[in-house]
Amino acid sequence: METRSQWGTRAGFIMAAVGSAIGLGNIWRFPTVAYENGGGAFFIPYLFALLTAGIPILIMEFTMGHKYKGSAPLTYKKINKKAEWVGWWAVIVAFVISTYYSVIIAWAISYSVFSFNLSWGDDTGTFLFEEYLHLAAPGQIGGFVPGVLIPLIIVWIVVLGILFKGVKKGIEVANRIFIPALVIIFIIICIRAVTLPGALTGLEAFFEPNFDKILDPGVWVAAYGQIFFSMSIAFAIMITYSSYLPKKSDITNNAFITGFGNSSFELLCGIGVFSVLGFMAAQQGVAVDEVVTGGVGLAFVVFPEIINQFPAFNALFGFLFFASLVLAGLTSLMSITETYVAGLVDKFKISRNKAVLFGGGFAALISLLFATQGGLNFLDVADYFINQFGVAFLGLVEVVLMAWVFRKLNEFKSHANEISDIQLGAWWTVSLSVITPIVLGYQMFGLFKQNLLKEFDTETGTGNYGGYTDSFIFFGGWAVAITAIVVGILLSFSKWRTKNTVDKGGQ
Ligand code: ALA
Repeated sequence: METRSQWGTRAGFIMAAVGSAIGLGNIWRFPTVAYENGGGAFFIPYLFALLTAGIPILIMEFTMGHKYKGSAPLTYKKINKKAEWVGWWAVIVAFVISTYYSVIIAWAISYSVFSFNLSWGDDTGTFLFEEYLHLAAPGQIGGFVPGVLIPLIIVWIVVLGILFKGVKKGIEVANRIFIPALVIIFIIICIRAVTLPGALTGLEAFFEPNFDKILDPGVWVAAYGQIFFSMSIAFAIMITYSSYLPKKSDITNNAFITGFGNSSFELLCGIGVFSVLGFMAAQQGVAVDEVVTGGVGLAFVVFPEIINQFPAFNALFGFLFFASLVLAGLTSLMSITETYVAGLVDKFKISRNKAVLFGGGFAALISLLFATQGGLNFLDVADYFINQFGVAFLGLVEVVLMAWVFRKLNEFKSHANEISDIQLGAWWTVSLSVITPIVLGYQMFGLFKQNLLKEFDTETGTGNYGGYTDSFIFFGGWAVAITAIVVGILLSFSKWRTKNTVDKGGQ
């Protein structure tokens, strides 16, 4: 008889779900997305997206995992045989994300070490791109960068080691240690940040509402994009994690705690990041908007520069910041990797250990591409395409299938209501069947148009995302997003094995 892994406690599950949600997306993506999309006014579309898409989809995915007790492919198959490929598509999207997400954690590990003697020097941009990454031109691969390769191997050893130990003894225990540590570290950073000179100007810039901006549809698209990636929804994670819940579990309450926990941390990140940006602007005697940047530039160029200027304990705060990126990243990477481990165990009836070894090992192998001199360019394009044409598109397909094709919402609602304190009503149904499909449908239409008609305003004149050439966008972006669907369909054609194996790792 097959025994499915189970979380040890409710708190353990919540900690793991929050650990998955809180990740690199919160620390380096949210503050800039919010700032560039209306500052204080961004909270209107953000809260709207959270309440009409984020939390409703999270409740739906928790219900799906809990009801069907399966990885994403098995869950979709149980809902309708023809839908299995959607589950695999989500798993492959997670697989792709894990291959580059691991690399960003590897950079953060290196930078934690660099913090000790501020070895990034005064010109932090040149240090990152030339001395550390040895960045090659887009499309070129170049040799391995040892400074990335070595921490990358460490990342995979840690994550796969935790997954080997199983759901309860591995993932749950790790999250119980990493998440409180992350919160404590981040609170220390934030307290220091808000007491720096100039912090208030930074916070004013962050919170100052620009109401004209919220009439711009692009701002709403950005809010939805942020919510999906940040809450780990629509890429198989939350279905997988909730499939390990015991029978008696309060689904709706757990989803609210996870969603609000993630958003609170996101807000904390915004406060911390903008306080230090205000400090840096004050040091340089410039306006805050001149020092704002996002993503890689924010974490690995601007932050080291700010750390250099800290009045005291520079090395300590540098270390704490990069350690918080590592902790937040690891807890998310575990959940992303678990999606394909669970999929392989369910479909091919192999032991958990084999699934971790083959699935995780294969992801680790692919991730080596991003540890080369051309890695950052591949990472940038893969991240953009897999998020837009993977995660956001999957979100649309998921809600349309459940609400309109298989008409499952009432069944899911009864299931969740039976075991939850908070009762779902019209808000949930209307959000999933009307509001989210309309907003995401509009978003996808805009994205296809923008990318196919090359509407990006780039200095290079290619009109492509990031100003990259057509062939680089094709191979590094479109091909990756399309392969995820094709491989998803192919995997759904292969036969389900029937041999039952006991999952020793999950006990
Ligand atoms: N939810 C994870 C993040 O925000 C993937 O980074």
